[in-house]
Amino acid sequence: MDAQAIAYDDAAALDAACARLRELPPLVTSWEISRLKGLLAEAQVGKRFLLQGGDCAETLADCRSSVIADKLKILLQMSLVMVHEGKRPVVRVGRFAGQYAKPRSKPVESREGVALPSYFGDMVNRADFTGDQRRPDPGNLLAAYAHAAMTLNFVRSLSAGGFADVHHPEQWELSFFRRANAPDSLRQEYERTTRQLADALHFMEALGEMTVEELTRVDFYTSHEGLSLLYESAQTRAVPRREGFWDLTTHFPWIGERTRRLDGAHVEYFRGIENPVGIKLGPGVTADQILRLVDALNPRNEAGKIALVTRMGSGRVGDVLPGLVEVVKRAGRTVLWVCDPMHGNTQVAPAGQKTRDFDDILREVETTFDVHEACGTILGGVHFELTGEDVTECIGGAAGVTVDDLDRNYASACDPRLNYRQALEMGFRIAKRLATHGRR
Ligand code: PEP
Ligand code: CO
Repeated sequence: MDAQAIAYDDAAALDAACARLRELPPLVTSWEISRLKGLLAEAQVGKRFLLQGGDCAETLADCRSSVIADKLKILLQMSLVMVHEGKRPVVRVGRFAGQYAKPRSKPVESREGVALPSYFGDMVNRADFTGDQRRPDPGNLLAAYAHAAMTLNFVRSLSAGGFADVHHPEQWELSFFRRANAPDSLRQEYERTTRQLADALHFMEALGEMTVEELTRVDFYTSHEGLSLLYESAQTRAVPRREGFWDLTTHFPWIGERTRRLDGAHVEYFRGIENPVGIKLGPGVTADQILRLVDALNPRNEAGKIALVTRMGSGRVGDVLPGLVEVVKRAGRTVLWVCDPMHGNTQVAPAGQKTRDFDDILREVETTFDVHEACGTILGGVHFELTGEDVTECIGGAAGVTVDDLDRNYASACDPRLNYRQALEMGFRIAKRLATHGRR
C-alpha cells in the first residue's frame, strides 16, 4: 500500500506522462551514484562528514539563478568551515533538483467550510487554495523533471568552477555577528576561522600549480524524498554492463517518516534499487523496526548503502536515541548515522506560523553528537532545511530573528528553513564539535 498515494482523475493523461518520463534521459548516472556510495561508506567510519541541505519543498517558481547559486554558496561555505575545523573532507548533498513532492498528514485541507486536496508539492499540484490549483495534474510530473534538469544543469556548471566570492572567506558577510545579541567572543572566533581559512586557501595556491578556483572545485550530489513512486520508477533503469536497477532521478533518495512501513509500497520499491537510501526515523520508531528495515533494504550489509536519519526533537533525542544506536551497533549493521535536527522541532508561533527555534535545532545536533560519543559510534552527517536567502522562518541565532519578524519574509512552501546567517552560524557550531568527534 502506498501511504501517500495521489488520486489522479485522468488515467490516460497519467499514463502518457509516465510513458514520456520513461523515455526522457536520466538526470544522474550510475557512476556518480556509486561514487557517492563510496563517500558515504567513508563517512560511516568518520573519515568524511555528510552535509545535506536545501528547501523543505522546492518550487518550480524558485528555479532561478540567484536562488540556486545562493543555496550552493551557503552549503559550500558551511562545508569549508567544517573541513577547516573538523579536519576531514565534507560530502555536499543538496535537497534539490527533485524535492518537489511532499508527504502530508492530512490528504484534505479545509478552510472556512471548503475542502480541497492538500498541497503535495509542485510535482503534484499547487499551493494556492483553489480547486483548479489543488487538482493533482499528471503534467506536473514532467514539469518537475524539466525543472530538476534545469536546476542540475546550473549546479553542474557552477560547481565546475563558478562562484568567485566563496574563494575569499575574508569577504564573507559576517557583519551580522557584530549585533548586540552575539557575544564578542563568538564573533572573534568566527573572524579568526575565516581568516585562517582564507590564509590556508592562499597558502595552498602559493604552494602548487593549482588556482584557488581549482582547489575549491567541488562536487554536489542531489537528493530528495522518493515520495512519488510514479516519478521514481519511471526513471529507474538497468544500465549496460552493470548489475541491478538504478533510480536515475537523483543520487541519494530518502524514505520519509510517513512512508517507511515495512510492508508499504515505498520500502518495496526501494528494496529494488542500487542507490544509497536515507531512512527518516522519528521518536516513535522501535529498534526492531529499524533492524527489519535495514535488513530489507540492505540484505548484504553493504557499506554506504543506508543512512539512518534521526529526527527525534531536542526534547526526546537524549532519551530515545541511545537505545536505538546500541541495538544497531550490537547487531553489527553497517549504517551511516545522520542527524536531521529540523523535523522534530517544529512549533506554531503565537500568530500561527510554523517555525523552529535555532536553539532547539542546535540542541538536537549537540545531543546527537553526545549520544554517539557515549555509545562509541560516529555521527557521520547532518541534514538541514536551509536556504541562502534572507528569509524569516526560523527564530533565534546570532542574527536575532524573533516571532515578530516571521511575517517579514516567510517564503517557504512548506517547513521553515534556516536562513543564510542562521545556516552559517550552525556550520560554525557543528565544525567545533567535529574537531573532536570520533577522535580518541
Ligand atoms: C522532510 O524532510 O521534509 C520531511 C517531510 O521529513 P520527515 O519525513 O522526516 O517528516
Ligand atoms: Co520538511
